[in-house]
Amino acid sequence: MKTYDDLAGDGGSNIVDQVQALGVKLRSRLDRIKHKVALMSGKGGVGKSSLTANVAACLVDKGYSVGILDADLNGPSICHLLGVRNSQKLVVDENGVQPGTGIHGIKLMSMDMLLSSPDSPVMWTEEADATAVWVSTMESTALRELVADTDWGDLDYLLIDMPPGSDRIDNIRGLIPELAGVVEITIPSMLSQHIVAKSITKNNKMKVPILGLVENMAGYTCPHCEKEGPLFEGQDVEELAKQKNIPYIGKIPFDTRIGRKTDSGSLFYMENKDSVTGKAIGSAVDKILDSI
Ligand SMILES: Nc1ncnc2c1ncn2[C@@H]1O[C@H](COP(=O)(O)OP(=O)(O)OP(=O)(O)O)[C@@H](O)[C@H]1O
Ligand SMILES: [Mg+2]
Repeated sequence: MKTYDDLAGDGGSNIVDQVQALGVKLRSRLDRIKHKVALMSGKGGVGKSSLTANVAACLVDKGYSVGILDADLNGPSICHLLGVRNSQKLVVDENGVQPGTGIHGIKLMSMDMLLSSPDSPVMWTEEADATAVWVSTMESTALRELVADTDWGDLDYLLIDMPPGSDRIDNIRGLIPELAGVVEITIPSMLSQHIVAKSITKNNKMKVPILGLVENMAGYTCPHCEKEGPLFEGQDVEELAKQKNIPYIGKIPFDTRIGRKTDSGSLFYMENKDSVTGKAIGSAVDKILDSI
């Protein structure tokens, strides 16, 4: 078997040209998308994906063309929220991989669309002793290909639904240096705010622009009578935004309808714009657009 020492030059792989070609392809796709925004949180389960889907619905309602990149490779959920089944065959044509089209015409690309069945897990390697560095390298490569190979076409907004944690944003910024910024999401609990505060500090240090902080599950709105009440004990989230010197985008109430499609198959926002929660989402989107 040959080793690296036996290879002359790049061993015929033409690696430099390949990397350059991928860079050109990525740039030509990104240039057709006006604004790229990532929704993130240091904390898991705070509503990143549900809000990404409903923010997308609100942007569509305003007349914008929208795509969502599901950057949560290990726990993808956007397909489910937008009603795209992984059995929908991926179409690859001369322009690249065609994104899925979810409800309200929202385009999407997700690891879920590449898996053979709804309950297939993403397995980067079957080697039990694969190092974290190797797995992380494979994840970064997969993310790059999801962005570079997808023929998004012309879009006003590309929303990026981030996995929990604050490290993946470095990859996204590497791929999309012109990222308009990130929307940080927390719930009012002390634990969530503690973790999200770290994520904000890291983004500030790394000069990742922060469009603002959303307080999700802030109080409970009864879906029947629309009365509000508190849900979590915690320090004022607006105060956290002030301390970190970032815009406070506002409160989204706890509302069990938010993560479900309506009976007619729409996203919550589309049919409930005038509810307390719908108005809160609308106002959050207006502030995000102002920040951009
Ligand atoms: N404002 C809300 N009111 C009620 N339930 C909500 C609200 N926001 C999100 N949820 C629910 O909370 C759960 C977690 O939401 P979601 O999956 O969007 O969070 P996430 O931050 O994307 O999670 P992960 O970190 O696993 O990606 C879901 O069941 C969702 O329906
Ligand atoms: Mg999620």
